[in-house]
Amino acid sequence: MPPAVPAFLDACLRRPTPFTPIWLMRQAGRYMPEYRAVRARLGFLELCKSPEAAAEVTLQPVERLGVDAAILFADILLVLEPLGVGLEFTRADGPRIERPVRSGQAALALPQIIVEDALGCVFDTVARARKALADRVPLIGFAGAPFTLASYLIEGGPSREFLLTKAFMRAEPEAWAAMMSTLADITGAYLNGQIRAGAQAVQLFDSWVGTLSPADYRQYVEPHTRRAIQALRPGVPVIHFGVGTGGLLPLMKAAGGDVIGLDWRVELGPTWARLGHDVAVQGNLDPAVLLASVDAIRHAARAILDGAAGRPGHIFNLGHGIHRETPVEHVKALVDIVHELSSR
Ligand code: CP3
Repeated sequence: MPPAVPAFLDACLRRPTPFTPIWLMRQAGRYMPEYRAVRARLGFLELCKSPEAAAEVTLQPVERLGVDAAILFADILLVLEPLGVGLEFTRADGPRIERPVRSGQAALALPQIIVEDALGCVFDTVARARKALADRVPLIGFAGAPFTLASYLIEGGPSREFLLTKAFMRAEPEAWAAMMSTLADITGAYLNGQIRAGAQAVQLFDSWVGTLSPADYRQYVEPHTRRAIQALRPGVPVIHFGVGTGGLLPLMKAAGGDVIGLDWRVELGPTWARLGHDVAVQGNLDPAVLLASVDAIRHAARAILDGAAGRPGHIFNLGHGIHRETPVEHVKALVDIVHELSSR
């Protein structure tokens, strides 16, 4: 089978890339002064729902860093707000759900939502960002995968062990399946809305699914993630990402996606070979490396590029989001280093 990525890049960039393309997880954010300037005027949710400002923030990393794609500025949790569970972002602790789902009954009572009504502002951001980009680089949309969304609904915020989520799926298998399939439908419709508005590729974030055993992934997650991906408009590349997923990667590949995200806990070369070169990979620098010297960044970037061995189908990325203490010059240096070292 031909590697997935040349087609992916053709579709995305509509020009051959002379080097390994790079974009970054959470490429806009608090480490950027120009982002903080916008946030001084607007609360986080308010910013996500202000198409003009959100489109501006979407373009900031393209202008400042020279990355090869723009990533929509939004958040995976925005879809939870119309479910009426009370979403807020606090300065100290990040996201909070005021009324978490703690019973089968509550899961079954979640309302149906019409994404065009509930999330139309995000589609407006996509359209504006696409226009402002004028095809300089492609625009990537994104959404949370059903498991990661369900984990926030149940835990009510960030979690280390996901004990409530794991207890829920076992104690209430029917309500779990119903909620996951509702979330899969929402995710599919939400991503299709972004595609219709102009997103040229989409990324599905199953950030916390690495907490599960392979058997649990198969039983409680895979059918729903597959359903969300299969609902997407054909021909639009899908990036499927999670953290700590070393033991789940073949299952995630089977669930779907043209590109599989790798974090730094796995070695890129051998992991890609195991997964098969018929799928593209994205990754996998430890974001903590960006806090070290530029020499250390160069060294680590080279090791990853060596692992990919110049094969088409590798997108350079971080294994997870950029830490807020990261010097923005280090992020810029990484982008330049990857372009330089991979120039062909
Ligand atoms: O990459 C980009 O630049 C696009 C923007 C983007 C944000 N969130 C903006 C954001 C993306 C792609 C996300 C995805 C997201 N959000 C994920 C999946 C990716 C991942 O990191 O695993 C998750 C789990 C969330 C939920 C979320 N949103 C958390 C846990 C937090 C708080 C912790 C943190 O890292 O800041 C957020 C807030 C958030 N989302 C910020 C940004 C820029 C910081 C908010 C602020 O400005 O105060």
